[in-house]
Amino acid sequence: MMQNIRIAIQKSGRLSEDSIDLFKECGIKLDMGKGRLKSVSSNFNAEFLFLRDDDIPGYVEDGVADLGIVGENVLVESAKKVNLVKKLGFSKCRLSIAIPREESFEGPQSLQNKSIATSYPKLLSKYLKENGIKANIHEISGSVEIAPSIGLADAVCDIVSSGSTLLSNGLKEVQEIFKSEAVLIGNKNLSAENKSILEKILFRINAVQKAQD
Ligand code: PRP
Ligand code: ZN
Ligand code: MG
Repeated sequence: MMQNIRIAIQKSGRLSEDSIDLFKECGIKLDMGKGRLKSVSSNFNAEFLFLRDDDIPGYVEDGVADLGIVGENVLVESAKKVNLVKKLGFSKCRLSIAIPREESFEGPQSLQNKSIATSYPKLLSKYLKENGIKANIHEISGSVEIAPSIGLADAVCDIVSSGSTLLSNGLKEVQEIFKSEAVLIGNKNLSAENKSILEKILFRINAVQKAQD
């Protein structure tokens, strides 16, 4: 009997629905029962692990999962050693700097000596360094957008998709620093068997994407 390839996808959030849809369109059945963290496909050699997106690159690096779908932002920030197998073209978003609506921004120098709240310290540091800016990075894991209004930071650096989170927190986007979309990642040492299952999955994904063009 062939083993199952283990695929990690986001449990809930911006990527989860599109990730599930992708496999369904590929004809790979997965049922995501309420609260279930694992599901074995009934018609394909795959099992799905439903995890927090931030944890997925680490699980794929360690081989707990063979494949995973995450935002490129999460992948790059994690600095985990995995293969970027394919960009998937959905869940597009950007990592941007945002400041209170009433303030002005004259380019990166406006951030000099300011404090910036973010869940993406590595990507933000890189941007600041490239622009010769010294700023104080406050790393927080969620609800980043409320930081300026509670006096925790002067600015934020967070993911923007529709922009509605920024808007409802009185912030405006002033500088995009990274463009992101969902990517398929893979462990660097897949078994021969898993490599052949991955080939089948890629063949189907390509067919789905062709049909959508
Ligand atoms: C991002 C960000 C905001 C939201 C912005 O979170 O932290 O919460 O998306 O989207 P909007 O511009 O459409 O309002 P993400 O979905 O990456 O989830 P996570 O940070 O909770 O993992
Ligand atoms: Zn997350
Ligand atoms: Mg968020």
